[in-house]
Amino acid sequence: MTTTFPIETERLRLRPIAPADVEPLQAIYAHPDVERWIGPELAADLDRSVQEQIALQAARGFSMFAIEDRATGVLLGDCGLQPLEMKGPEIEIGWDLAPHAWGRGYATEAARAVLARAFGEWSLDRVIAVIKHDNIASQRVAEKLGLMPEGERHAYDEQMLVYAAYP
Ligand SMILES: CC(C)(COP(=O)(O)OP(=O)(O)OC[C@H]1O[C@@H](n2cnc3c(N)ncnc32)[C@H](O)[C@@H]1OP(=O)(O)O)[C@@H](O)C(=O)NCCC(=O)NCCS
Repeated sequence: MTTTFPIETERLRLRPIAPADVEPLQAIYAHPDVERWIGPELAADLDRSVQEQIALQAARGFSMFAIEDRATGVLLGDCGLQPLEMKGPEIEIGWDLAPHAWGRGYATEAARAVLARAFGEWSLDRVIAVIKHDNIASQRVAEKLGLMPEGERHAYDEQMLVYAAYP
């Protein structure tokens, strides 16, 4: 089944990332309160990352999506799926929002819509999230989504908590 974009939730719109998103995404990823959790690498080479996401979308039908506020059209961040560390074979779900958008349930709302399609039209049999030990907000999002803790693994150059979801 082919996904129709944008994916709409009650308050958000998710759509594949486009080259025009580089600048607004750069501002989000390079914000100190976001970079603290995701590291500097993404913002440092965002042109390449956006091209990788566009290629992933074309190849697999999913990717890290841009999240827009449905009411204003403002780009709030990203949420979507990609091969773990862009290498795989596991598929990871991720979420990153501009700090002004935190604390309103947006990450959970976006990720819920992504997971529904992951196990629906994209037919995945497992989706994981890898989260830093001290990233309590992100762990809370995973818990609210019903992801199950599955120990730890090395990813993104450090030991991470692993959460997993199944159909
Ligand atoms: C992680 C992130 C996407 C969460 O976005 P969000 O829209 O605020 O998430 P939600 O509102 O859906 O849920 C956050 C939950 O964490 C809780 N929370 C936030 N900060 C917390 C803290 N320091 N301690 C305990 N709980 C915290 C919130 O209260 C909420 O739980 P609740 O609904 O039970 O009250 C956002 O904080 C972010 O972009 N962080 C920087 C990038 C990042 O860490 N990405 C993930 C990498 S794994």
